[in-house]
Amino acid sequence: MLLFADTADTKVLAELKETGLIDGVTTNPTIIAKSGRNMFEVIKEICELIDGPISAEVAATDAPTMIKEGEKLAAIASNVVIKVPLTIEGLKATKEFSAQGLMTNVTLCFSVNQALLAAKAGATFVSPFVGRLDDQGADGMQLIHDIRQVYDNYDFDTEILAASLRNTSHIAEAALAGADCATLPPQAFKDMFKHPLTDKGLETFLADWAKTGQSIL
Ligand code: G3P
Repeated sequence: MLLFADTADTKVLAELKETGLIDGVTTNPTIIAKSGRNMFEVIKEICELIDGPISAEVAATDAPTMIKEGEKLAAIASNVVIKVPLTIEGLKATKEFSAQGLMTNVTLCFSVNQALLAAKAGATFVSPFVGRLDDQGADGMQLIHDIRQVYDNYDFDTEILAASLRNTSHIAEAALAGADCATLPPQAFKDMFKHPLTDKGLETFLADWAKTGQSIL
């Protein structure tokens, strides 16, 4: 499963990059606003920093303007993925981007039918929002399972990018459900490394090793 960082904070991204385990980055208008930076500058910097798909979202709501915006965003770097909302206009734009060979991430997906349409439009990625469905009392993770089944039924190439993941349980469940990628808040990514038994076991191993008086180097 590819792991993307859901942030435009370049300091944090540089830190996460050091792990060698970050495969890409996703942004949205909220994340760009939070960065307090110019969108083109920050996306360019992220594209240079991380060698992988970098999602940058259009702001228009009509297909012709989305297409112009998307083409401008795609010109920033070859690893830009044009992020479009899952609307009729968004999927018209997705079809056009697909015809041009440009990568797309269809976002704000909350149903199997929406995901089916995104795949038919030729989306590179579809982003089902797990946490926001959970917030409404629905079962967000079931949507990942269901989209996996539909995409496998018809051999769609669109990759399932589990989004709006809030914690490590979400990440593990998305992997079990067969998501191709997951986008993670930085803290959730860091939390993936942790287990109390790892800390406890290491503490014992180090104490016992010290007792041997040996050195490997
Ligand atoms: O990238 C969009 C998505 O991950 C947003 O998550 O926590 O704002 O629902 P959240």
